[in-house]
Amino acid sequence: MKIGIIGCGHMGGALAQSFMKNNYSVAVFDRHPDKIQALGLASDLSLEDVCRGSDVILLAVKPQVFSDLASELKQTNLKEKIMLSVMAGVSLQDLKEQLAVSKIIRCMPNLSVKDQQGVLGWTSVGCEASERQELQDLMSSGGLALELKSEEQVDKMTLISGCGPGYLAYWYEAMITQAKNLGFQEAEAQAIVKQTIEGTTKLLENNSPQELQKNVSSKGGVTECLTQSLEQQGFQEIFQKALQEAAEHMKNLNT
Ligand SMILES: NC(=O)c1ccc[n+]([C@@H]2O[C@H](COP(=O)([O-])OP(=O)(O)OC[C@H]3O[C@@H](n4cnc5c(N)ncnc54)[C@H](OP(=O)(O)O)[C@@H]3O)[C@@H](O)[C@H]2O)c1
Repeated sequence: MKIGIIGCGHMGGALAQSFMKNNYSVAVFDRHPDKIQALGLASDLSLEDVCRGSDVILLAVKPQVFSDLASELKQTNLKEKIMLSVMAGVSLQDLKEQLAVSKIIRCMPNLSVKDQQGVLGWTSVGCEASERQELQDLMSSGGLALELKSEEQVDKMTLISGCGPGYLAYWYEAMITQAKNLGFQEAEAQAIVKQTIEGTTKLLENNSPQELQKNVSSKGGVTECLTQSLEQQGFQEIFQKALQEAAEHMKNLNT
């Protein structure tokens, strides 16, 4: 299975790396040749060259530019190609209408595919069982790949795993900010938080989140006080509301 990638930004580049690590043949097209060269790949191929030489064409541009790209793509011969979109919020119906192809996959990866530690949820239309198996193998290059029953589930995964590295990094940064507010120097604050996060991830390998919270929170202690304060101030409600707003935003990304 030869893979053509259109858009070599954060996600296109990360997926290219994970595919290449699993020995897939990869060709890339992007407006910025330097991004392709950084992967050690040829940067002189046209959009048409990349499409012609590929079995699967991965669309990894922003949803906002999809319509323009679709007009360009329709000039190339896409018949028999499998189109694989990672664009948030662009529906199978939109892809089908704008590209006039029958085999389409919607996949929601996250940036951890770069280290083959990603989560990828995907669903397809028009693909045969053997092709779906090949696609499952392809996606597994990036980490945990889950074939989902519907594209609604792909949208839901966008909110949890797709955006996840972004808002976990936001929380991480908030911890560094608060460590500095408590008087630690930048370097100290970073080292303390980094080790805390890494140590916690290790503990979570053998403890459920509930168990770990219980083990750290002695009755009437400081951790219990801190988490109860977050709960009382509506942490869950704030998080839920943010997810709902993001879900609404996703619906309008390519309009
Ligand atoms: N980043 C993530 O963590 C993440 C997670 C899940 C899904 N996704 C999805 O992945 C897609 C790409 O996101 P990203 O963060 O990788 O974006 P990005 O870093 O902006 O990369 C997109 C790349 O495609 C190029 N491009 C745009 N239009 C093009 C065209 N017509 N022909 C060739 N190249 C073109 C862009 O160039 P210019 O900069 O000049 O426009 C840029 O280099 C989005 O649809 C997003 O929803 C991203």
